[in-house]
Amino acid sequence: MVDSQMVYHRRYLISLVVLVSTGILQAQEPADTNYDESKVPTYTLPPLLPKETAASTNAERAKLWTSSRRAEIQRLLEKHVYGQTPGDSVTVASKLVESSDEALGGSATRQQFTLTISPTSGTSSRSLQIDVLVYAPKGKAQAPAFIGLNFYGNQTVSSDPNILISKKWMRGNGKIGIVANRATEKTRGAYQSRWQVETLIKRGYGLVTAYCGDIDPDNYQHDFTDGAHPLFYKEGQAQPADNEWGTIGAWAWGLSTVRNWLDTQSGIAIDAKRLAIIGHSRLGKTALWAGAQDENFAMVISNNSGCGGASLYRRCYGERLHHMLKPVGYWFCRHHATYAKREAELPVDQHMLMALVAPRPLYVASAEEDRWADPKGEFLAAKHASPVYEWLGKEGLSETEMPKINEPVAHDIGYHVRSGVHDVTLYDWERYLDFADKHLAK
Ligand code: GCU
Repeated sequence: MVDSQMVYHRRYLISLVVLVSTGILQAQEPADTNYDESKVPTYTLPPLLPKETAASTNAERAKLWTSSRRAEIQRLLEKHVYGQTPGDSVTVASKLVESSDEALGGSATRQQFTLTISPTSGTSSRSLQIDVLVYAPKGKAQAPAFIGLNFYGNQTVSSDPNILISKKWMRGNGKIGIVANRATEKTRGAYQSRWQVETLIKRGYGLVTAYCGDIDPDNYQHDFTDGAHPLFYKEGQAQPADNEWGTIGAWAWGLSTVRNWLDTQSGIAIDAKRLAIIGHSRLGKTALWAGAQDENFAMVISNNSGCGGASLYRRCYGERLHHMLKPVGYWFCRHHATYAKREAELPVDQHMLMALVAPRPLYVASAEEDRWADPKGEFLAAKHASPVYEWLGKEGLSETEMPKINEPVAHDIGYHVRSGVHDVTLYDWERYLDFADKHLAK
């Protein structure tokens, strides 16, 4: 091999390793992954609207939706996909660990809390600690805000040197500075481009974030002995039952718990009634499930959430249920696995998940090169959720065709497919902020 060829091959290998380690490429894309649109099976989606749709006013319809079909769909998604979330009440004790009125060059306030969450009743003596980072723009008594979980600790969302570094267990990721499953100084700001904190503040929004592993560690050797699950085990229980929550359910519960707590706080300049819940990838699946169950999130944003998130299972395009089972089946309830390679038999599909967000504003974003997440399936699920929005007097996705690359559409459902790979970028954030300006600004 001549030198220039060797250099090329080395470069190719290095970029492949970088792409795999950043999660942009799947380490081993399964051989049966379908990327051929002509091989997408014909499918019929499960019905969405109530049988009785004759109610004449929007208010009557909203009542009918909430009291009947919405609740039915939520039960179906619990039973067949994410598992049931325990309804047990919890006590939340919070401690302000650090704060500043001069954060981010004086434009924001920063508060860091540790929340200790314990079941109010039951047999468990365990508690869970969640570190919550809050930024709020200065000069506003109650700012609307984005709330979302991060993958590797709060210190990754900004290079602000005062963010406390998470001491919790993390999945390995040498590239960003995770050493022996712990975050190091190097991880500071590792994902700042995915959060764009300065831009949010400049536009008058706050940010509330916590590390997903504080709620349930995303350990691929998952055994449900740590995280939120054991808090609610019945006497002698060591695993969630087949119909009980997996990790996505726990993450979603954690977000609602933080939201609830925020709503009781007077010393935080964030309006808990104007929170947009956001998540990327597995945490986008989580944002959808949290926003679907908890109607107190005012807006819901799914960024590249793909299979088990925004995309339709029945298209069998890109990642499929059976691809998730071995590595990350614990994200879902155990019963979900019975639909592996039997997607057509699922009593639900993901348009129903999105419909649970109605009539609240919903934004779904895809990336052109993120074929594994099936951009078209993400658009179609949002499109097929639209009849509920329309029925409730809102505007869903009226577009008959998938919007072109970088041509966002924004009604009460917003959608865009951005050029580029699986990621959250400034382009995505600018769309979310415009959408929030339309729906959350007073
Ligand atoms: C894997 C997984 C996806 C998930 C993604 C992520 O690619 O297969 O379902 O969305 O990880 O969370 O980064």
